[in-house]
Amino acid sequence: MKSPSPPNKTLTPLSAKVVQSLRQSLIAWFKANGRSLPWRETRQPYAVWLSEIMLQQTQVNTVVDYYHRFLARFPSIVSLADAPQADVLKQWEGLGYYSRARNLHKAAQLIRDRHHGVFPTQFDDIVALPGIGQSTAGAIATFALMQPRPILDGNVKRVLARLMAIDAPIQEATTAKIMWPLSARLLPDDPEAAWQFNQALMELGATCCTLKNPDCSRCPWQKTCQAYARNLQGELPVSVKRKPVPHHDIGVAVLWKDETRQQCLIALRPQDGLLGGLWEFPGGKREADETLPACVAREIMEEIGIEIAVGAKLTEIKHAYTHFKVTLHVYDCLYVSGIPQPKASQALQWVTLDEMSAYAFPKANNRIIDLLKSNPAMQLTLC
Ligand code: ADE
Repeated sequence: MKSPSPPNKTLTPLSAKVVQSLRQSLIAWFKANGRSLPWRETRQPYAVWLSEIMLQQTQVNTVVDYYHRFLARFPSIVSLADAPQADVLKQWEGLGYYSRARNLHKAAQLIRDRHHGVFPTQFDDIVALPGIGQSTAGAIATFALMQPRPILDGNVKRVLARLMAIDAPIQEATTAKIMWPLSARLLPDDPEAAWQFNQALMELGATCCTLKNPDCSRCPWQKTCQAYARNLQGELPVSVKRKPVPHHDIGVAVLWKDETRQQCLIALRPQDGLLGGLWEFPGGKREADETLPACVAREIMEEIGIEIAVGAKLTEIKHAYTHFKVTLHVYDCLYVSGIPQPKASQALQWVTLDEMSAYAFPKANNRIIDLLKSNPAMQLTLC
């Protein structure tokens, strides 16, 4: 903020006339500028639910192909519920935030078992499903069930923070408490108008009232926007400062079963926790003062109970997760002795490079697979 001021805890109520004008201008803007997106062509709760989950944390352009492929592979809630989790994660591979896929799958099983396979229509039942918070439930109710409900995702928070010049950090629960009544106040009662309005609000946040360089010249709310009036659009919304993210060095083994280098050991990550249910090349965090080859050998002994020979470094891969960053230091390794045991994983499997395509891996691991496939020499040399 230009001059520090205490965050505003209450908002000046919007008059009926202003609300009416905001609704009309936004809906007209959306009719002229809204993108035609596949989930806007359907009112099927399953498809709308899927799109809303995929769109959390992920850009529209990335989602479109995943959305079509997922619905082709699992055309109904029951087909999703009946599928093994591994198949669901395989369809989600590369989209990230895999707890979304695990929750979607669990929710489909609950709908199969408790709601006869039919997506619930009561708001309380919807919000009780795993992975569905208040805003996602509001979007599904508005978009699929024609039950107008307010929404408050990250984009909407940004739009409302600017519209009303709310200078409280948008990640905080107290700020949401101010914003929910505002989102509800703006929402039209008529289900069709509410559908248009909530879609439009999301669209405005995604394409016009963007975090960086908002395009106020195109904004249907420019005249009313308090941030614009005070030239604060670059400073709002206020966001709490993120702690610096820690960085970890991870030693990773591309572990061949024998000199023929046909089969490599992969491990299934524990169900709960980061990347749960995905497969990976085994390894782990380097300890202080440890060399990376020593780290790889120790991790494999601790987590799998076998002795290996650690050879040449194949590559280094950097990857950023939400709360930390990693560098994977990938080593070419050969099995020496012992019986592999999944001490720190759900399962272990010897697989050929070709067979790996049937398993879901995190992005950074898929980069290792691509490298091995594109560079057969890496399968031949052990220093
Ligand atoms: N983000 C979340 N829901 C969306 C929707 N229905 N359309 C576009 N972006 C979105």
